[in-house]
Amino acid sequence: MDKPHIIEVKTGKPYAIAVGEGLLREAGSWVATVQKPGRIAVVTDSHVAPLHYPELEASLTAAGFTPFLHVFPAGEASKTLSTFGDILNDLAEHQLTRTDKVIALGGGVTGDLTGFAAAAYLRGIGFVQIPTTLLAMVDSSVGGKTGVDLPSGKNLAGAFHQPALVLCDPNVTDTLPTDVFADGVAEALKTALLGDADLFSLMEQGQWRSQRNQVIERCIRIKADIVEEDEFEQGRRKLLNLGHTLGHAIEKCTAFAVSHGHAVAMGMAAVARAAVANGLAPAALAKRIQAALLANGLPFTLPLPMDEILPAIASDKKRAGSRLTVVVPTAPGDCRLLDLSLTEAQAFLRKGA
Ligand SMILES: NC(=O)c1ccc[n+]([C@@H]2O[C@H](COP(=O)([O-])OP(=O)(O)OC[C@H]3O[C@@H](n4cnc5c(N)ncnc54)[C@H](O)[C@@H]3O)[C@@H](O)[C@H]2O)c1
Ligand SMILES: [Zn+2]
Repeated sequence: MDKPHIIEVKTGKPYAIAVGEGLLREAGSWVATVQKPGRIAVVTDSHVAPLHYPELEASLTAAGFTPFLHVFPAGEASKTLSTFGDILNDLAEHQLTRTDKVIALGGGVTGDLTGFAAAAYLRGIGFVQIPTTLLAMVDSSVGGKTGVDLPSGKNLAGAFHQPALVLCDPNVTDTLPTDVFADGVAEALKTALLGDADLFSLMEQGQWRSQRNQVIERCIRIKADIVEEDEFEQGRRKLLNLGHTLGHAIEKCTAFAVSHGHAVAMGMAAVARAAVANGLAPAALAKRIQAALLANGLPFTLPLPMDEILPAIASDKKRAGSRLTVVVPTAPGDCRLLDLSLTEAQAFLRKGA
């Protein structure tokens, strides 16, 4: 195995993200750098458990750990207070103490749930993220946002809780269904578009699989840079919401039939068209973004008429009072934040239909 690349994230509590093929096999010795070998909890979902837990378990055991496993049913429908409670109860039944740790092995759902459970258990214990989807590698395992969905909306309860360590093994994404992989590609293209023109060029033809380590690493670096500067989303971190104002509204209006990454792809294309129509970007930019989405197997047209989607941006969680920030792409690697009233935002975005 090539030596993993390490990205240091200098948040309030700094931590390392290691990226390397075959890292899952070595996870035990990596975890031992942040935790004395002994008992350790692992949380994963019902899809990931049979695929990747045996390798993690063997590696933890070889490094002197005694892991115990908590498995919940795979899918966003499990990202609830009820599953969160089940995890807390299991940690308590195993008498985990303040100095123990919990490992999240899985996609964004597992990471968000486990991170929130780690933030709440005994008022906070350490956790390690081992993301297994591309989305979790490039996005959800960086930045320390954890949480669960409530009946009233997604991610409405949670905490900022930074992990002690993140281990990304790109080989693990080989078992992902095509659509789930594509969800992560949408977030990676988003990251490139807001912060790295060269990365966007590398990805836009869709032929980057042989360079996926580099893509993952560069996305992590961009997100880490932004998060370091703005850990609690007061300013620059809002850039990461590119494509998300409409994306969330699309998810909501289709009752989540359109997945998050696919909705973000549609939202990104529409906000680019709106940027052109509002005179903030050249026409070539919207065309280039659409072509990049297409080449990467992602959609760029809206699943419903814009007028049916726009009312739903009113429930955007990122809204501050009656205003919301729309992230507008102006060139590859460059975006602007527009602070608009709800009516202004709707008028701006309507032109991107
Ligand atoms: N915390 C953050 O900053 C942040 C950022 C973006 C998204 N999110 C959250 O992340 C979630 C979406 O993440 P996701 O797309 O990873 O969802 P997910 O965790 O549900 O994973 C998607 C599907 O892939 C399966 N899977 C995971 N790894 C696999 C593998 N290696 N092989 C085969 N199947 C595998 C899962 O079982 C699931 O069925 C949402 O809940 C979203 O709110 C959080
Ligand atoms: Zn997203």
